[in-house]
Amino acid sequence: MPASLGGGRLQKFVIGRVGDYEIRKCEREDLPTVIDINTRTLPEHYSDFFYQEILAEFPETFLVAEQAGTVVGYIMCRVEYGFSQVKRLGLARKGHIVSVAVLEEHRRKGIATKLIQLAQEEMRKKAANESYLEVRVSNTNAVQLYEELGYKVTGRLEAYYRDGEPAYVMAAHLSS
Ligand code: ACO
Ligand code: ZN
Repeated sequence: MPASLGGGRLQKFVIGRVGDYEIRKCEREDLPTVIDINTRTLPEHYSDFFYQEILAEFPETFLVAEQAGTVVGYIMCRVEYGFSQVKRLGLARKGHIVSVAVLEEHRRKGIATKLIQLAQEEMRKKAANESYLEVRVSNTNAVQLYEELGYKVTGRLEAYYRDGEPAYVMAAHLSS
């Protein structure tokens, strides 16, 4: 009998680990916690429907990090087709990191790095060969994190955020 049937509760499939944190696919029942983490860590909030839509359309690249059964971080992405952010001309399949966040007391342990690396692997499986995101120009921690992962600033969007702050567009090749 599969172990997953033993306890009557489906075993959640761990796709990566960092320290004693486990990374796995987000499930519908995780959304309230994901939304709560977003509310506590970022000024950009989305409707519940927005999260549900992303999870329904792009479940492979919607991941959570948990410790002893408590979700402490997430990443959600889309896979899009459009103008390349890394080539000078042409169209590309691109992974778009829509939002990534880790609760403050769990930071600097490599969780965001692992979430991004695993999401990038899933993007590649979806035939994306680059990844990009927008980040507040003042968010030096996040910019540093992305640079460590090989992302480069490829553009700047003036008044991108509601409060008027500009965004950097940062992008990276996804090596195969
Ligand atoms: N100060 C300096 N460098 C930092 C910091 C910091 N506070 N945080 C991360 N970094 C850099 C460092 O180079 C770090 O490596 P190191 O710890 O070996 O020095 C590297 O990024 C990797 O850090 P991780 O431990 O993987 O990142 P963490 O799990 O702490 O999460 C994150 C980073 C997501 C930016 C977290 O601080 C957070 O949730 N912030 C609030 C939400 C946010 O800003 N999200 C990104 C918005 S943009 C978007 O979502 C597309
Ligand atoms: Zn975006």
